[in-house]
Amino acid sequence: MDVSFDFQRWMAQRLDTVERALAQWVSVRSDASADHDAPAALVEAMRYAVLDGGKRLRPLLVLAACEAVASSGADAQAGQAAALRAACAVELIHAYSLVHDDMPCMDNDVLRRGKPTVHVRFGEASALLAGDALQALAFELLTPVDGSVPAAVQARLCAVLARASGCAGMAGGQAIDLASVGEQLSEQQLRTMHQLKTGALLQASVLMGAECAAATGVAMQALKAYGAAIGLAFQVVDDILDVTADSATLGKTAGKDADNDKPTYVSIMGLERSRAYAQSLLEQSLQALADSGLADTRSLQALAHMVVGRSS
Ligand code: IPE
Ligand code: IPE
Ligand code: MG
Ligand code: MG
Ligand code: MG
Repeated sequence: MDVSFDFQRWMAQRLDTVERALAQWVSVRSDASADHDAPAALVEAMRYAVLDGGKRLRPLLVLAACEAVASSGADAQAGQAAALRAACAVELIHAYSLVHDDMPCMDNDVLRRGKPTVHVRFGEASALLAGDALQALAFELLTPVDGSVPAAVQARLCAVLARASGCAGMAGGQAIDLASVGEQLSEQQLRTMHQLKTGALLQASVLMGAECAAATGVAMQALKAYGAAIGLAFQVVDDILDVTADSATLGKTAGKDADNDKPTYVSIMGLERSRAYAQSLLEQSLQALADSGLADTRSLQALAHMVVGRSS
């Protein structure tokens, strides 16, 4: 990788921007034109779920993809306002998925991002509603009435995020995950489950960023392949870390997959083959970027390395 690119600096700046935007938008009055404030207790649970924690990988992918596409166009800043909204929207969907994933009816987990889970802190009904409200807020962010995002871009962003979140994406994957407890899945079935429950939202992050900067043709196809590869790699590594890392490092309960009798890459392939598979997905993702024809993909390359090399 080009050593003149300071990825840590790139990332720190974007994390700061995303953090501020999330803190502003997840509030009792996210929309200045609203007739009523939202109930403070519900917003408190939403803020607890979203703020002060999380690697923010999905927002970083949105911003990096937008910048990579813009780097090949006339305006390197193109689409940035829309991309910040898309970055926060996908993080809200992700946060909602975690709140529900941790509930007693799903994975029954008590620790998330180093804190008690939302249902432990606020009760199950509040956790359910906080998740519901975060999901709706994501689509509100994508549809501002101030003219800052062209209507056609709004529609495309909503379509991509809705598909990746719904029954043929995250929610569908979660349903397969729950139905697979105690089952011995084939590699093909496991891949499908992981592509849906986790891969779809990561790939959507890349595609939404690309949409913001109006990517087309070869670049869009390459980013689609990149997103698919890192999306799957992300969950393979999540399965590995569940076995190899401790709860303090992860900020969530380690060893939970075996406790819940979930089929994972580690339970089906073993650790070594899982690690090799994650590595081959990293190589696929980098090859896709090399084939994209985009001028500057350094942040996307660095994010792919981060997905596979991470320790939490
Ligand atoms: C955890 O996602 C849930 C999965 C989809 C595997 P992350 O590891 O991105 O969680 P945060 O956002 O950093 O807490
Ligand atoms: C969760 O997968 C995927 C989601 C859609 C939230 P996991 O159940 O493996 O996520 P963790 O390990 O609890 O973060
Ligand atoms: Mg789960
Ligand atoms: Mg879980
Ligand atoms: Mg996991």
